[in-house]
Amino acid sequence: MSVHKEAKRITTKTLQRMKNAGEKITMLTAYDYSMAKIVDQSGIDVILVGDSASNVMAGHETTLPITLDQMIYHASSVVRAVNKALIVVDLPFGSYQGNSKMALSSAIRIMKESGGHTVKMEGGSEIIESVERILSAGIPVMGHLGLTPQSIYKFGTYTVRAKKEEEANRLIEDALLLEKTGCYAIVLEKIPADLAAEVSAKLKIPTIGIGAGNKTDGQVLVVHDMLGITQEFKPRFLRAYADINKIMNEAISQYVQDVRSSDFPNEKEQY
Ligand code: KIV
Repeated sequence: MSVHKEAKRITTKTLQRMKNAGEKITMLTAYDYSMAKIVDQSGIDVILVGDSASNVMAGHETTLPITLDQMIYHASSVVRAVNKALIVVDLPFGSYQGNSKMALSSAIRIMKESGGHTVKMEGGSEIIESVERILSAGIPVMGHLGLTPQSIYKFGTYTVRAKKEEEANRLIEDALLLEKTGCYAIVLEKIPADLAAEVSAKLKIPTIGIGAGNKTDGQVLVVHDMLGITQEFKPRFLRAYADINKIMNEAISQYVQDVRSSDFPNEKEQY
């Protein structure tokens, strides 16, 4: 039986066993109770309460504006829905970059107030003191390298990262450092597939890719993107598995028509 099927509840240890057994890890975002319930029941391994909620749920252009309180609200809604998946919660911009004491207190708030299982942080050597301090409090940390959207104003664009040798070497060093420090997995976002394959082979811990080819140990997508709910975001790495936007549009237009024509509610739909 596969490691995923065996597990009653997915933990960081399950993910390590999956990598060791050569089984791919599946991860999707969710930010609210109803969506998280569907995602969990569909058999996903990991649910990420991503700070992409800033874009997807709140309509901001970047992930920077979302606050720690808002992340805790989203994460606690997801926690109430989920029975099996491991729940990872993003530490939002500004909640950990200041110093390691601030980082630890933000991570503790997430764990205590939302009930999430682990946190995710963007960056390598520049955040290592904070990663260490959070880990020493018993909170598992998922790393995130490559395109790190919280630093968008430093990079200026959302294009592929680490194409040049110097940046690629730095990313490999950061990945090894995060592993050595004790991270249980690392997200690799929008980097060349060959580099992601090299990092995944070098690391003992699992890598989860987004726009990083298929040699990573797992894949993650934003659920609203892969379901075709968001319409304006269509990067090359995204596969749309449904056109939920069209289905919702048709259903809502039909409802509007039925109310306007007094077809809804009919006699069976009233008391
Ligand atoms: O916030 C998010 O959704 C993420 C994924 C893109 C990995 O960090």
